[in-house]
Amino acid sequence: LPLLATGIPGFDTVLGGGVPAGDLALIVGDAGSGKTTIALQTAFHLARSGSATCFVSTTSEAPGRLLEHARSYAFYDESRVGKELLLLSIYPLIQKGLGAVRAALEAEVRQHGARLLVLDGLSTLHDLHSETAELRRFVYELGDLLSTLGCAILLTSSRTEPSDVHSFAEFTMADALVRLSQSLRGTRSERHLQVVKVRGRAPVLGLHTARIDREGFAVFPRFESLAHRGEITPAEHRAATGLPELDAMTGGGFPACSVTAVAGATGTGKTLLALQFLLEGAENGEPGLLVSLRETREEMTARGRRFGLDLSGRLQDGTIRFEHHAPVDLEPDRMVHALEAGIAALGRGRFVLDGADDLLLAIPDEGRRVALGHVVSGLLRSRGISAMVPLLVPAGVGPELDLEHTPMAALAQNLVLLRYVEYAGELQRILSILKLRDSDFDASIRRYVIGSSGFRLLPRTEADAGLLAAIAGLPSEARVKRPGEPERSR
Ligand SMILES: Nc1ncnc2c1ncn2[C@@H]1O[C@H](COP(=O)(O)OP(=O)(O)O)[C@@H](O)[C@H]1O
Ligand SMILES: [Mg+2]
Repeated sequence: LPLLATGIPGFDTVLGGGVPAGDLALIVGDAGSGKTTIALQTAFHLARSGSATCFVSTTSEAPGRLLEHARSYAFYDESRVGKELLLLSIYPLIQKGLGAVRAALEAEVRQHGARLLVLDGLSTLHDLHSETAELRRFVYELGDLLSTLGCAILLTSSRTEPSDVHSFAEFTMADALVRLSQSLRGTRSERHLQVVKVRGRAPVLGLHTARIDREGFAVFPRFESLAHRGEITPAEHRAATGLPELDAMTGGGFPACSVTAVAGATGTGKTLLALQFLLEGAENGEPGLLVSLRETREEMTARGRRFGLDLSGRLQDGTIRFEHHAPVDLEPDRMVHALEAGIAALGRGRFVLDGADDLLLAIPDEGRRVALGHVVSGLLRSRGISAMVPLLVPAGVGPELDLEHTPMAALAQNLVLLRYVEYAGELQRILSILKLRDSDFDASIRRYVIGSSGFRLLPRTEADAGLLAAIAGLPSEARVKRPGEPERSR
């Protein structure tokens, strides 16, 4: 059967392609959950391809009020009203019985060759028609009739549970069943769409994030549904960082097409290292994508300037693209879909996600946080992208940083740890590599400085050896007493 696309972003995906011609789809949800919006948006989408929709509003929402509602959305198109979008009123007919209503609807569908019939507000019919058996027959016969005409039916109802004896019939008759809901998370309202069943196809079942704005309704399929789309073939070459000392430790750079987590406390220089990684790629003709959940474009370029990095030049010539997503109202599923779009547009190249911690924090469930790590990692690697992801870890984390079964382990194949330690009254910044995909690496601890020329690893000197040995096993901020030195007061 040909599928009728709703044209609603993400909705067709979770439905397994759309609504098959002639099928009966039921959308249930409380008032304001978006049922009418979905119906209108679908009708206008069909209209654009020349297909007619008979739209029956059973509520007291008169056609004029319905259009008023529709007008608030960008998809509204006045020129389709009365042509591809036919608004029908069944109030006058209801008195004559449901048989008359059915006959009238059939006649309209035939006359206009409609591909879709919307019955918005089945619950109203329930209220007007206490005879459940009769209403059930009405829906059944209408569905049967229209399916032979290849016309799909979209029913909406505010009765959300099939346990309600009145609504049991349409729940069982529906080929597709979708439930809309709204809930509060903190002080803000979140919308969800749940695909309960879809007959004969492979939908993406379960709860998805949804949203209504001026563009209308949009669904953001659970990000797990993006997983395992592409083959991952590890590349042999290396992604140089532009820090010769660091590249020497890794055998020429981080393995290409892998994700490197840079873990460290605030102020250790994680973002700076990631910026240099991006700029080095750009230097060698690799396009870059910098997604920041924290800093704006201006803040990020100012940071680059402070450290002598020409980020703004790269943004201007387009080698590196910048996207800022404000972490307020961070909806992880929406964010991951936005990331996917950005990653797809990047193609092979380098990617930095700054502020990934905020994204992880927005997911209350630990299992889903790990899933997020896998999904983002898979998206990047299957596209041959070399990525660096700064991750905030509490000060005091040492080389024993345990990664197993964490989102970070799911995300990154390589791990660099940045720490600052106080040694004999001086703050030392030190870097160490804890993990590198399929490769041997220099596991020594190295000092680095952050200055006007950016992040710079210091060459190893003989004098360092003792110092580094002393702090090797210590967590950051640990105080190390030089032998013979008197105890200092804190
Ligand atoms: N232009 C718009 N931008 C954002 N939200 C809107 C807009 N128009 C309507 N809404 C919201 O969308 C919802 C509309 O839901 P509606 O489709 O009428 O639900 P139902 O038919 O399930 O009662 C309401 O919560 C309303 O606040
Ligand atoms: Mg409505």
